[in-house]
Amino acid sequence: MSQPHDEHPHVPGPSLWPVGFAVGIVVLLIGLIISWWILALGAVIALAFAFLWVRDLTAGTALAHAPDVPPESPTGAAIPATAGGPAMPPTEPEERYPRSKFLELSTLGLGGVIGGIVTVPALGFMIAPPFLKQGTKDHDLGPISDFPEGKYVIATYMSDKTQGEVSRRTAFVRYNGQLSGQPSFTIISNHCAHLGCPVQANGPLDEQHKKEVGDVTLIPTVSIAGFGCPCHGGQYDTEGNRTAGPPVRALDRYSFSIRNGRLFIGKPFSVSHVDGAGASAKIHKWAFSFPGEHVNGIESWLYPVQPPH
Ligand code: FES
Repeated sequence: MSQPHDEHPHVPGPSLWPVGFAVGIVVLLIGLIISWWILALGAVIALAFAFLWVRDLTAGTALAHAPDVPPESPTGAAIPATAGGPAMPPTEPEERYPRSKFLELSTLGLGGVIGGIVTVPALGFMIAPPFLKQGTKDHDLGPISDFPEGKYVIATYMSDKTQGEVSRRTAFVRYNGQLSGQPSFTIISNHCAHLGCPVQANGPLDEQHKKEVGDVTLIPTVSIAGFGCPCHGGQYDTEGNRTAGPPVRALDRYSFSIRNGRLFIGKPFSVSHVDGAGASAKIHKWAFSFPGEHVNGIESWLYPVQPPH
């Protein structure tokens, strides 16, 4: 008696790999909101389980050789070697691929392709714009002689003239004198570190010496005791450190450069706090963050990953 053929297709056994893959995707999405390292961890988990899953699926697809089954007579008795026509030339073993496996893999592949076609453009339109054409160009605020030593000057300027007044920015600029033979400036943003309201200088302004050149306006202050926010009462000292109210960190600052005796305002950056004052102050600098975000400590883990800006 010959062994009957196995008519049942190969069906993979139950596996935990898809569950692990799904967990990895969930961790990845959570990391997209919270932190880069959680995102990376999710990607590693998803890739590892995806690899194991695919390996499982493809394990049963090895080429199977057709079994050598002796021909049988209609009655089931073996046919004598001398009976029948001439023997056929030997043939290569037939390659067989389970139909169920083919359908399984092609369904997964087709699903992946359709999923990619649907989601990749949407994700691209959602995520790509913040990464394109972003950045701040340095802006000329004028000769450094326009900034008296030790006093803040309120500078307003258009960060992008093509956008007009909507791009007008305000910064508090103080000349700190020379530091190691180079002019030192403190340039503080007027965006409150609570919710972004425009903070004001706590002190009188010297409107008589207001100066306007092009899109730049400079208004010297007489003497200020810090900065205050009109929205929720946030208060800052003259170095921008939070002293009262709901802001979560110090005021942001701007980098600067001196070219041909002129002051150029550069990119903004965030500050957790400042030790000391003036040219010798130690600034605890962080990547530019949105108002209300902690930039250090355990609270900073709660804030989303940000595109460069
Ligand atoms: S926005 Fe400044 S204190 Fe709330």
